Amino acid sequence: MATLIIKDLHAKVDDKDILKGVNLTIKSGETHAIMGPNGTGKSTLASVIMGHPRYEVTQGSITLDGEDVLEMETDERARAGLFLAMQAPQEVPGVTNSDFLKTAVETRLEEGEHLALFDFIKQYDQAIDDLKMASDVPHRYLNDGFSGGEKKRNEILQMKLLKPRIAILDEIDSGLDVDALKIVGDNVSKMQSEDLGLLMITHYQRILEYINADIIHVMMQGRIVKTGDQSLMKKIDTEGYDWLKEELGIDDERVIVEDNEPVFLNPTKKEAL
Ligand SMILES: Nc1ncnc2c1ncn2[C@@H]1O[C@H](COP(=O)(O)OP(=O)(O)OP(=O)(O)O)[C@@H](O)[C@H]1O
Ligand SMILES: [Mg+2]
Repeated sequence: MATLIIKDLHAKVDDKDILKGVNLTIKSGETHAIMGPNGTGKSTLASVIMGHPRYEVTQGSITLDGEDVLEMETDERARAGLFLAMQAPQEVPGVTNSDFLKTAVETRLEEGEHLALFDFIKQYDQAIDDLKMASDVPHRYLNDGFSGGEKKRNEILQMKLLKPRIAILDEIDSGLDVDALKIVGDNVSKMQSEDLGLLMITHYQRILEYINADIIHVMMQGRIVKTGDQSLMKKIDTEGYDWLKEELGIDDERVIVEDNEPVFLNPTKKEAL
């Protein structure tokens, strides 16, 4: 069992406040989805959970099974079982996919545990097969020259071998063709279990045809402003966000930040958030 608890999380980048009080709890066996307009802080939340050095946490807490995640280095977070499939995976020329993945799997081992190369290669080949990727993937440099869709599959390949306890998939469905969407969706769906807590960041309902999500959140202006079931996602898919902005009293997505205080373009509606 794993429980990730995020409380009143505030974070900024380059003195710009992005997260403004995020509350979210993810437990093993649950699948959450976060939707929300562009630029509202979804990827920032994912980066902050993994400990990206660019983002400064100014308030709030993140714990995993009671342990203070914010005190951990990124590799410690990975070792503790946190995993992020990035929206835009980095290219790392000079490091092969197999070397990267082997090192990553080794850091997940318990003390005294040993990674048998034969088992690793067997699992790797199986994952490549499952994801219908090209057989030369292990020998190529990490994501180097990979197409958008290949990068996404490569993130899921890593997830299959790393077996995280809490996984965040940031727009794993974007840029995938119809067949690839099915392949990625089916592979993630097969990993859903009582031992995995899953957080999917997505713009479209489509991916949920393959991956069942129990809880849907909407993020706006650096906060989770609404939580519901799949019907919420369906409504957004067909109607967009205008009705929700109206309900919340947000006439305009844009806010100006002055002295670290968000100034809403329509100040009378500020109380609504
Ligand atoms: N490293 C950074 N430097 C400067 N600004 C940043 C940085 N990271 C995020 N931001 C800003 O923070 C805001 C939120 O960005 P974020 O990537 O979290 O949005 P998002 O909700 O994931 O959007 P999308 O749906 O387009 O992926 C944006 O205005 C973005 O420009
Ligand atoms: Mg994003």
